[in-house]
Amino acid sequence: MRPAGRARGLPAAAYTSDRVFAFERDRFWRGGWTCLGRADRLAEPGDQAGLDVAGAGVLVVRDAAGRLRTFRNTCRHRGHELVARDCVVRRPTVWCAYHAWVYRLDGTLRNAPRYDPPPDADLDLLPVRSAQWRGWLFADLSGDAPPLPDVVGDLDSVLAPYRPEELRVVASRSYDVAANWKLVVENYLECYHCPSTHPQLSRVQRTEGGESFTPTDGWLGGHLDLRNSANAMSLDGTGPGWTFPRLDEDAARQVRYHLLPPDLFVTATPDHLVTHRLVPVATDRTRVECEWLLPAELVAAGTDPGYAVDFWHTTNRQDWAACESVQRGISGGGYRPGPLAPHEDLLHTFLVRVATAYRTGGPLSPARPTVEPAP
Ligand code: FES
Ligand SMILES: [Fe+2]
Repeated sequence: MRPAGRARGLPAAAYTSDRVFAFERDRFWRGGWTCLGRADRLAEPGDQAGLDVAGAGVLVVRDAAGRLRTFRNTCRHRGHELVARDCVVRRPTVWCAYHAWVYRLDGTLRNAPRYDPPPDADLDLLPVRSAQWRGWLFADLSGDAPPLPDVVGDLDSVLAPYRPEELRVVASRSYDVAANWKLVVENYLECYHCPSTHPQLSRVQRTEGGESFTPTDGWLGGHLDLRNSANAMSLDGTGPGWTFPRLDEDAARQVRYHLLPPDLFVTATPDHLVTHRLVPVATDRTRVECEWLLPAELVAAGTDPGYAVDFWHTTNRQDWAACESVQRGISGGGYRPGPLAPHEDLLHTFLVRVATAYRTGGPLSPARPTVEPAP
């Protein structure tokens, strides 16, 4: 594989073929850990959410003991969804709206109206493997992916100073992006586009610099410095005048970008985190769930998160417009993959992993690419 600077991007079919999308959906998304969002979204016993993992329904339930349980969102009678997609309800039982079968919060069938199932029929909800990491809930539909801590790797210690598990979601937005999910990932992995695409961001962050973290485990990321004139990632460069207390001197003046493939972006700034969670909907459609997380002390002090929300909402829309334009440009038949610039080294690493998975049949391996030495 050629190094960034000489390597070229993937062919158009990687972004336009329904066959490729089906492969990725099965191997990358349903074949390993994907993020379902913040665990505290379901706060009370009986809270239930219908979620989507690349088109597969997952039901998340907080049971009577306060434990989160995950199941296939499919009734054991004739398959109706138990909680509608993207909905959250609070009920003492899991209840199917079609013929009113009732399940306990632990997933066992309690009763079916006017029908006694055979005693040996196993009609409990089908469990889905799940795990939590620093406040986020993950599901593994395959049931046999490596343990989540192995997949997270040293991203855990990298993010530890921000104490993500103690942060509060103070704002969220959902975006429907008319682009293949990989274009959204690729866009996140390079700031080569920042000076031309993000005038507001470029006023507060040194977009021309930046360094990548050396990939050690499955995640990828890099960091850029705030400009001397800015104290926060906001439209005017001002923020709450507060910094995560455990950050070292460098991190206290940096914006750090982390991708946990395939679906979670964690952007860490000196005073807040922003996350993007991708849900692939179709070959050319991706839903992006964006959340803003602030430390509890800032929330308690009444800090208005508008400074961060306005800034990233502006940046998000610029990014999605670029991704959608690339999708259209790639889809018209006139696209020939061009060379990746040296500043797109992370993107290169990601594409090598994708291409390797295409060749081997997946999954999206964190294995380091074999890069030809520069001539
Ligand atoms: S499909 Fe759920 S009760 Fe019939
Ligand atoms: Fe961007």
